Amino acid sequence: MKKVRVGVAGYGVIGQRLADGVSLQQDMELVGVADVAPTLSVRALREKGMPYNFYVAAPEGRPALEAAGIPISGSLEDLVQSVDVMLDATSAGVGAKNKELYAKYGKKGIFQGGEKNSVADVFFHGYANYEKGLGAQFLKLTSCNTTGLIRAVDCLDRAVGIEKVAITIIRRVADPGDYHRGLTNALQIDKAPSHQALDLMTIMPHVQATGILVHTPVTHGHIITVVATPKKSVTPKDVEEILDQHPRIRMVSIDEGFLGNASLFRYARDLGNPRGDMYEIACWRDSIVMSGNDIMFAINVPQESVVIPENMDAVRACMRMQEDRIEATETTNRYLGIGKWRNLK
Ligand SMILES: NC(=O)c1ccc[n+]([C@@H]2O[C@H](COP(=O)([O-])OP(=O)(O)OC[C@H]3O[C@@H](n4cnc5c(N)ncnc54)[C@H](O)[C@@H]3O)[C@@H](O)[C@H]2O)c1
Repeated sequence: MKKVRVGVAGYGVIGQRLADGVSLQQDMELVGVADVAPTLSVRALREKGMPYNFYVAAPEGRPALEAAGIPISGSLEDLVQSVDVMLDATSAGVGAKNKELYAKYGKKGIFQGGEKNSVADVFFHGYANYEKGLGAQFLKLTSCNTTGLIRAVDCLDRAVGIEKVAITIIRRVADPGDYHRGLTNALQIDKAPSHQALDLMTIMPHVQATGILVHTPVTHGHIITVVATPKKSVTPKDVEEILDQHPRIRMVSIDEGFLGNASLFRYARDLGNPRGDMYEIACWRDSIVMSGNDIMFAINVPQESVVIPENMDAVRACMRMQEDRIEATETTNRYLGIGKWRNLK
């Protein structure tokens, strides 16, 4: 079988994880990654022995890259010409400019949450609307929080029907290693409704959604509390069993020692996952409660790695590698090694 050729633009927090994700997909080939400067991630790539070919995305960046000893395989334009699809994980807003290059060569492009929705033909989630992505030229992935949130809401919706949801997002303010938010010790509220609730309604228009977002001075994951109104009456046990069946949701409990986001991050590091990455969201069994007929629960969203599986699904959809949502997501999951914890049950 001919492998689908994939390039990654922007080798930052998301881009380096996308590159790792693609290289694990046995039916895809990572042609290379592109960036503009010898950032720490690019320097680390060199120190690791250049497992991925590197392309320079802006000519003015070449001298600094050469001075840092980064081997350069060509320009971003060269990379685009050699691939079937580009995964664009450049800084928010840059993807819209890169799109012109992808369009020039008739290539497909997959953009991340920081771009405007207008950048793409389809706002995409591997589980909730895989079929809409089939054969599309430009897809945009949901943001990290929305990706995790939709996994849980779509899972319940398919099982019992969900009429509406209200969410509170407790949002990590920056990624580990970031300095651009300063040394903070404060909580900050965004104007409601949160974009994640609005985005959920774009992908799942039959569910009414609203929510509030609170920025918190932590870097290892967001926690979202969800209040969902089901169409059928359910018990907390039903909800636990339904969520537990989702391949990208891991059920955890406080009694096991998962006290919060930091426990999950530490556990991923104990597992030896590169950078402490987690592809799955976690839902606390002991957070599932009823408010009248509504369900309430809390999930953990590892913001740096949660969107990687859905990006792989997006490649599968736009390249029509699988026509079926379940077949596609299962192939992604198998190659990424998601769900090892289930074998221990
Ligand atoms: N960080 C997260 O937790 C997270 C989660 C989900 C989605 N996203 C989205 O993913 C996208 C990337 O975010 P990030 O956190 O990885 O950012 P980042 O700043 O870590 O990485 C962006 C990279 O793009 C490079 N770049 C800038 N201009 C470029 C160009 N013209 N060509 C090629 N490379 C260029 C930068 O040098 C940098 O290495 C954004 O849309 C963001 O909203 C981020």
